[in-house]
Amino acid sequence: MSTFWSAWVIIITLICLVFVFYTLYLNQKNYTGVEEGEEMGHEFDGIKELNNPLPKWWRNMYWATGIWAIIYLALYPGWGNFEGFFGGWRSSNQDIRSIAESKAATEQAKAAGIRVQYDIEVEKADARFGPIFQAYADMSVAQLVKDKKALEIGQRLYLQNCSQCHGSNARGGEGFPDLTDQDWLYGGSFAKIKETILHGRKAAMPGWEASLGDQGIKDVTAYVLSLSGREAKEGNVASGKAKFAVCGACHGANGIGSLALGLPMGAPNLTDNVWLYGGSERAIQETLRHGRNGVMPAWKDILGEDKVHIISAYVYSLSETN
Ligand code: HEC
Ligand code: HEC
Repeated sequence: MSTFWSAWVIIITLICLVFVFYTLYLNQKNYTGVEEGEEMGHEFDGIKELNNPLPKWWRNMYWATGIWAIIYLALYPGWGNFEGFFGGWRSSNQDIRSIAESKAATEQAKAAGIRVQYDIEVEKADARFGPIFQAYADMSVAQLVKDKKALEIGQRLYLQNCSQCHGSNARGGEGFPDLTDQDWLYGGSFAKIKETILHGRKAAMPGWEASLGDQGIKDVTAYVLSLSGREAKEGNVASGKAKFAVCGACHGANGIGSLALGLPMGAPNLTDNVWLYGGSERAIQETLRHGRNGVMPAWKDILGEDKVHIISAYVYSLSETN
């Protein structure tokens, strides 16, 4: 803020405060010339106005809020460019768009000696809960899935960080995989689940409308449906099968999916009638026309490896105990 606008804000705030206190002060005095409780000489539809002062508790509360405003303005920043006697306290670092920026801003704030409330609370929580997570970090998955407390912690972390996409029961939704079944895009072993959560995944299914054309999309859709024993209304299975050759690189020549081929690209099994984006003829055509690019975020830098270890055990337990 320029000095001019800073002064502008400060002066207007001061004028408002003075005005508030002055009005309160005036209201404390009886300037009406009429005794307290007496009539003021006004009547509205038979209702008379009496000279009743503001209740004391109300007036005192108003004074208190005014005084609090002054204390607040003195301690915290926000009053023009004045940083406040708390040394530039902040609720959070500002203008953050990435984890890297957030880390850099935290370091900067520390170096400048500014108290960032959010950072302070995160530090406190890390100091308190860090050792708890660390104790579990050394446990194997076999131990963790038998540890009720660990699974409870894992579930809580899951609900806070993952449920908005995968659902609170982890059964997923359109575009978000079900984590409780045995159908995996990237692998359901503990190691693979942990790898997925730590580093994230980006699925790249290209769109085929341009290269296959409308009839081609319908034919391939008919073939894809036939893989799980279903029939399409449009399209020709035999010519779809011939065109499916381009899909084999990722989904396997017979559509069994990249996982079965030992490839890490997350191309789903197309033969099991389990669908990430919907298994109707329309939904599959839509997938083929425009492609799909599901993104699973990476959590290593957000949660840290210890927490991911516990969440991984929780997610692993969901399908293993079903
Ligand atoms: C912003 C939405 C989003 C959030 C939040 C999210 N995920 Fe995901 N996750 C996805 C998507 C989308 C995929 C599928 C990626 C793909 O299409 O290939 C996925 C995939 C996965 C997979 C792989 C499933 C498989 O079949 O191989 C696992 C495991 C997983 N997520 C666990 C988690 C956990 C645990 C968390 C919380 C720490 C989490 N996800 C948070 C969107 C999200
Ligand atoms: C470069 C690798 C690649 C190629 C080539 C490819 N796919 Fe895919 N496909 C994927 C990936 C990865 C996904 C998962 C997308 C996601 O999770 O967002 C996918 C998803 C799909 C789905 C959605 C499955 C579901 O469960 O909803 C269908 C259907 C599909 N592909 C069919 C095809 C067909 C048919 C072809 C050939 C015309 C093809 N794909 C070519 C990688 C590929």
